[in-house]
Amino acid sequence: MPSRAQRLLQIEDYLFSFIDETRELAEGVGLAIVPLGVGDCDLPTPPHVVEAMRQAVRDPLSHRYPPYAGTQVMRVAAAKFLARRFQITVDPDTEVVVTLGNKEAMAHLALAYIEPGDVVLVPDPAYPVYETWARFCGGEVFRVPLRAENGFLPDFDAIPRDIAARAKLFWVCYPNNPTAALATAEFFDGLAQFALDHDIIVASDAAYTEIYYDTEPPPSFLESPGAMDCGIEFHSLSKAYNMPGWRVGFATGNADVVDALRTVKTNTDSGTFSAVQHAAVAALTDTTSYPDQLRHTYRTRMHILCDGLEAAGLDILRPKATFYCLVRNPGGYTSTGFAKKLLNDAHVLSIPASRFGPGGEGYVRLTVCAEIELIHEAIRRITHVDW
Ligand SMILES: Cc1ncc(COP(=O)(O)O)c(C=O)c1O
Repeated sequence: MPSRAQRLLQIEDYLFSFIDETRELAEGVGLAIVPLGVGDCDLPTPPHVVEAMRQAVRDPLSHRYPPYAGTQVMRVAAAKFLARRFQITVDPDTEVVVTLGNKEAMAHLALAYIEPGDVVLVPDPAYPVYETWARFCGGEVFRVPLRAENGFLPDFDAIPRDIAARAKLFWVCYPNNPTAALATAEFFDGLAQFALDHDIIVASDAAYTEIYYDTEPPPSFLESPGAMDCGIEFHSLSKAYNMPGWRVGFATGNADVVDALRTVKTNTDSGTFSAVQHAAVAALTDTTSYPDQLRHTYRTRMHILCDGLEAAGLDILRPKATFYCLVRNPGGYTSTGFAKKLLNDAHVLSIPASRFGPGGEGYVRLTVCAEIELIHEAIRRITHVDW
């Protein structure tokens, strides 16, 4: 058997291997686990979106190869969504490309730009794909710390000048996974200026912009002055419309960067199933109250979780967006130790935030992608843990 490529050998196990390991461990001893680990939407895709798919799948035209950059109808729907939600004007032909979800597209952006020796600025902690693909491409990762005292926003002054000079990509994600932090428009303005000053592409992961509560709708990076000159943003239907299994989203921003991404994709995948794009259009042009109902559901669940954790004496960072909540180590544990204690003593599955980078040490991440009854059950169990 030939040896695996070096790039695979240097990659740590994907973070969710922790979940599989612990789940197996728990199942081995017959425990009923409350799964608050993975952010996998537990609610169904809305019926009108499923119906759009049902109709489209009967159309033989859907069965052919789709256009590489996505259907014109989907790209126009994406542009209209951006105009409606963020007041961003983009050209659907040159500034939008349909993707198989953010994960795929973000990986391919690295392939479009990163060569050995190039620096990629990656927040710490962060969704692992930014760092993994920087390394797959031979890039050098500079971890930009996200600290609670800075609202989990990167401090540009903490990036050395020589690193900034060699950097090609700067990843950001707001609302943020795993910290649930929000970016302000002022922060995004400063980011655009920093990127333009140092000739860096900002890659903005906007997977969670529609999951917010107790706050104004979060801004897009592309609203900032100069952002269209240096940025690309990844939007996903996974979280906003409970469509994680459908694998559909779109990337938008600077035409040259979108073109580079499109070139990699054209040579890699053959586009998103046209029927899925049809369903995505039904979501992007939706005028029902579905998104509000979804936010209301997450808000209710999150309040129950946070109130319960606080009543149990735990220190949490109360989120206003995403379906994640960071819980501070109650003392004496590593993140992994804390997660194991939750698993062993409360039979609650969490993710050690250190799995998102060293900056996550000291926290575990819980999600509210679970029914209210399960959240109540998790709280009941956690309340009895002797820390
Ligand atoms: C920050 C972040 N970006 C991207 C994704 C993946 O999005 P998609 O389903 O569109 O690939 C996730 C999934 O959990 C995520 O947390």
